[in-house]
Amino acid sequence: MAVMLFRLSIFLAAITALLEIGVAANSRRQQCTTTLSDAKLVADQLQLHYYNSSTGQYNLGELWTDANTLEDLHNLMLANDSDDYENAADTSYIAKAALDPNTDWTKFLGGSNDDAQWIILALWKIADYKSARGQDSSAYISSAAKIYDMIAREWDDTCGGGVWWSTEHTYKNAITNELFLLTSAAGYLRTKNEAYLENANKEWSWLIASGMRGPNGLFNDGLDLKTCQNNGQTTWTYNQAVVASGLAALYAATGNTSLLDQAEVSLDATIVSLTGNGILRESCDLADETCNHDQQIFKGIWTKHVQYYLDNANDISRVAKYSQFLGVQHSGILLHATNSAHDIGSVWYTADQGRSQWSPEASASGLQAFISAAKYGSC
Ligand SMILES: *[C@@H]1O[C@H](CO)[C@@H](O)[C@H](O)[C@H]1NC(C)=O
Ligand SMILES: *[C@@H]1O[C@H](CO)[C@@H](O)[C@H](O)[C@H]1NC(C)=O
Ligand SMILES: *[C@@H]1O[C@H](CO)[C@@H](O)[C@H](O)[C@H]1NC(C)=O
Repeated sequence: MAVMLFRLSIFLAAITALLEIGVAANSRRQQCTTTLSDAKLVADQLQLHYYNSSTGQYNLGELWTDANTLEDLHNLMLANDSDDYENAADTSYIAKAALDPNTDWTKFLGGSNDDAQWIILALWKIADYKSARGQDSSAYISSAAKIYDMIAREWDDTCGGGVWWSTEHTYKNAITNELFLLTSAAGYLRTKNEAYLENANKEWSWLIASGMRGPNGLFNDGLDLKTCQNNGQTTWTYNQAVVASGLAALYAATGNTSLLDQAEVSLDATIVSLTGNGILRESCDLADETCNHDQQIFKGIWTKHVQYYLDNANDISRVAKYSQFLGVQHSGILLHATNSAHDIGSVWYTADQGRSQWSPEASASGLQAFISAAKYGSC
């Protein structure tokens, strides 16, 4: 009898443990439904207001910001198992190029090695969506691989390594190299091709030694080519999270948790230094400046890559660390930057005093902040 009770209690303990694991895993993936609904309102308005289905571009958009916006729409559909924007990919000029095996990518990309990698990320996300719906994603995957190979050839020994910002070879900067870390590490996770993993390791060794991350933990824009030193230019928000997303992918490939601690140096520095009222603030959001179209999407990219960071870090305690901050971005944007039509302006941290820019980039930026908050933010 005692033995049976003992066995029963072990059995119950095991069941309880299993249930707890189930609850924890679910609560981590549980999407915040009200935040997702806000995201849907913004995405609907973004498509209505800015998307031109005859050109497949966003009016006032740019190649690389359009790529990010397409990625966001697919990120949203994957979040909610919905197909609301399924035609966006097939009508977009980026996807049309990816589906055409004869696309001249050199011409299409115009020499921008950073733009090229945003397109890789968008194509992978569209491919994930297509595969999740049982559709053929092979053209997206093979176009992404072609673009990746072009970028990998842009690495040389100037300043000890790194890929060039453009094919004109006039600048080496943080974003292009952070993206190369990410596309290499995430590409390895997708393909198990060792060449990608070698590139990721090579890139991180170079990047951390390059001096582009200052003593405050923030990456500056790039290198002064004459001295190969940090050029001290602006510490944009997006630079602080794309590196984290790359490092988490490299962690997922190698199991080296120090990479996650390195990632959080820049994430935490963003929260300390690039915020106002606890909300992300780009230097050009300040009263005497105006963010240009590129800069209007940076903050949303920060939130997107924190989402990807947490996806690959796969650690509840790290989610807990950033959850409240992601939630506050959502509520701050609703309070300060969203109009009654569900367009989103570029200034999030304070009530719009006529300085917010209204554009497809600003709306896409807010959209992604909502999607990230729905997945990992406090509801
Ligand atoms: C999520 O899916 C549910 C069920 O299909 C739907 O009712 C809801 O509108 C969707 N929400 C979003 C944000 O797409
Ligand atoms: C879409 O783009 C075409 C070509 O530039 C233009 O003629 C048309 O007016 C645009 N449509 C919308 C709704 O903006
Ligand atoms: C793990 O990553 C850290 C941080 O970049 C690095 O210093 C260390 O050498 C790595 N460890 C191994 C075994 O590669």
